[in-house]
Amino acid sequence: MKLHFYLFALITTLSNLLNAQSQEITLKNATNFKIGAAVSVPVLKNDSLCLPLLRKEFSSITAENAMKMHKLTDKNGKYYWKDADYLVQLAKENQWRIHGHTLLWHEATPKWINQEKMDSIGLEKIMKNHIQTVIKRYKKSIKSWDVVNEIFTNDSDSLRNSLWKMKLGDQFACRAFKYAREAGGNEILLFYNDFNTEKNDKKINAAINYVENCKKMGVTVDGIGFQMHLALDEADSATIARNVAKAVKKGYLIHFSELDISNDNQESRTAYTDSFAVALSNKYRMIASIYKSIPAEQQFGITFWNVHDGKTWLKSYFKHLYEWPLLFDEKYQRKAAYYGFVNELKK
Ligand code: GLA
Repeated sequence: MKLHFYLFALITTLSNLLNAQSQEITLKNATNFKIGAAVSVPVLKNDSLCLPLLRKEFSSITAENAMKMHKLTDKNGKYYWKDADYLVQLAKENQWRIHGHTLLWHEATPKWINQEKMDSIGLEKIMKNHIQTVIKRYKKSIKSWDVVNEIFTNDSDSLRNSLWKMKLGDQFACRAFKYAREAGGNEILLFYNDFNTEKNDKKINAAINYVENCKKMGVTVDGIGFQMHLALDEADSATIARNVAKAVKKGYLIHFSELDISNDNQESRTAYTDSFAVALSNKYRMIASIYKSIPAEQQFGITFWNVHDGKTWLKSYFKHLYEWPLLFDEKYQRKAAYYGFVNELKK
């Protein structure tokens, strides 16, 4: 009898615990759309805290670097699939979506493409072959791709003078989408991805015009990736909402594809203070609120550009010393910004 009682108590406690766990709010269960993170293969392999946090909080991953052209090919142009395959397999095991990033980007043009010697016919072949090889390899696992990244200059509506544009002409990105569609068919979602499009009217207008014009060549683009590399003091809610709405109105899927919020005052804001934490939280709340106002059928998801503050590109790329741009601190602990963001999402 006593044994029955203890068993019963044990089972009740266990099931309460399980219930409590399944009800805990996390990023991925606070929304109906995917919440993703950019991930790095070395971090996943070497940092034992990364994978458990991803499993608990996220429903999608993007390769931070492993699927870029200069990482997928070696110095002779031969394909190197190991890291990309690892991420695809990991996504499968964890039932995450894996979003492909990125097939064509001026900063990822490999050195083996000899800029001087390359003629336009040869380069067009390389572009087509690369896009189609990668899409076909992962066709069963990767159902969405940033086909083209950042064709406009930083803050303007002019096309960047990349090798691709100089040799292949202004329509090269439309043809990149065409090749992607040929390889992936209609089951693969194709995105144009760029930064500052949320805050610069001219730039988002130009990006939308560009992809709309591709339609004249019979090429369709499914979505717009707003990278959302934001700065704490920059871009008010009305500006961001207005620019995002332009892409919504045209019917595109909307991906906030590389979200983080940098400290744009490196001279005097040199510590993670309470007031910084609150300001960051408010900004994340604002982003969640804007994203929620997008019709559900156009919400592709929100992806953060890395998992926690310790690994942010803002420190390595810009050599910033004082950055706390994400929802988790370098010890993988939830920050005030996490709660601001999640509470707004589930409101
Ligand atoms: C751009 C690219 C990303 C990443 C960041 C900086 O936004 O799209 O892949 O390289 O720059 O890390």
